[in-house]
Amino acid sequence: MKNIPYIDLHCHVDGAITPEIARKLAELQNIELPADDEELAAKLSVPETCESLNEFLECFALPGSLMQTKEGIIETFYLVEEHMKSLGVVYLELRIAPQKHCDGGLTQEGVIQACLEGIKRSNLHTNLILCLMRDRGNEKENMETIELAKKYLVKDGGVVAVDLAGAEALFHTDEFTSPFAKAKEYGIPFTIHAGEADGAKSVKDALDFGAARIGHGVRTKEDPAVLEYVIKHKIPLEMCPNSNRQTKSVDDMSKYPLKEYLAKGVKVTINTDDPAICRTNIAREFDYIEKKFGITLEEKKTMLLNAADAAFSDDATKAELKKAIESAF
Ligand code: HPA
Ligand code: ZN
Repeated sequence: MKNIPYIDLHCHVDGAITPEIARKLAELQNIELPADDEELAAKLSVPETCESLNEFLECFALPGSLMQTKEGIIETFYLVEEHMKSLGVVYLELRIAPQKHCDGGLTQEGVIQACLEGIKRSNLHTNLILCLMRDRGNEKENMETIELAKKYLVKDGGVVAVDLAGAEALFHTDEFTSPFAKAKEYGIPFTIHAGEADGAKSVKDALDFGAARIGHGVRTKEDPAVLEYVIKHKIPLEMCPNSNRQTKSVDDMSKYPLKEYLAKGVKVTINTDDPAICRTNIAREFDYIEKKFGITLEEKKTMLLNAADAAFSDDATKAELKKAIESAF
């Protein structure tokens, strides 16, 4: 078999900063990091004792601090993309919440411009998803992200969609009606993290807003009607098995509904979420589901074809990706 052309549709760039990348970013910006490699690795990844998404999200402090300047952001995108390319990824959607990168004086627009410059520096086919954040008191920042997404939106080769990230169990999806009504009005495609730390109602709310895809969606099955909708309307789920294991999206991985969703015809895709924080990569995710759930080669191919179809990209790109997948299997 040829090399598998991997597609990663759900990857937070600040969750993809490996210790090696962190050292390069720190050197570039004169930022001091723990000298000890083990200590650094521990600060950049989630402990096995992690109990929840809330705890998981605390791991973003250090990588976030390395992405507060134009140079830091450009270099992060370049290094993350080169790393993904070396692992066999052929199409990548990276996501970032611009409002989390303004501590050093950058505006959200400045952050987006830096991301686009970093993307241009690498030749890996990459598109950008802008995340709004689940929080309170940041309504203005979330709206600004929507306005900027409208300004920079392209079909391929730049900003292609928006998302909603952050603590789903603390800030419920139905609190974010306004920004997604605007996104819909502007014709900006969007995905929403839902059914990860909160239940099927969160997925239903995201779908009611008009989400084209669902981030995770693990808990969709808690309401059979929502699962039925997802199947009927071919809504892709961006599943991220090791992230879901670490955030305790399901209490026991033997209950992880991957095989069940595939058997029911759900458009499942496999992604990394936060590869450095989760100590994973896209190939390891596929290995994991193969060993843990007995995922077959045919199912693997189906999920890659689902990802090609689900990409926030143009038809030519999707066709090219599908051709590469067909010829690899
Ligand atoms: N959920 C919500 N927000 C996030 C995640 C996630 O899994 N990863 C990074 N930000
Ligand atoms: Zn995520």
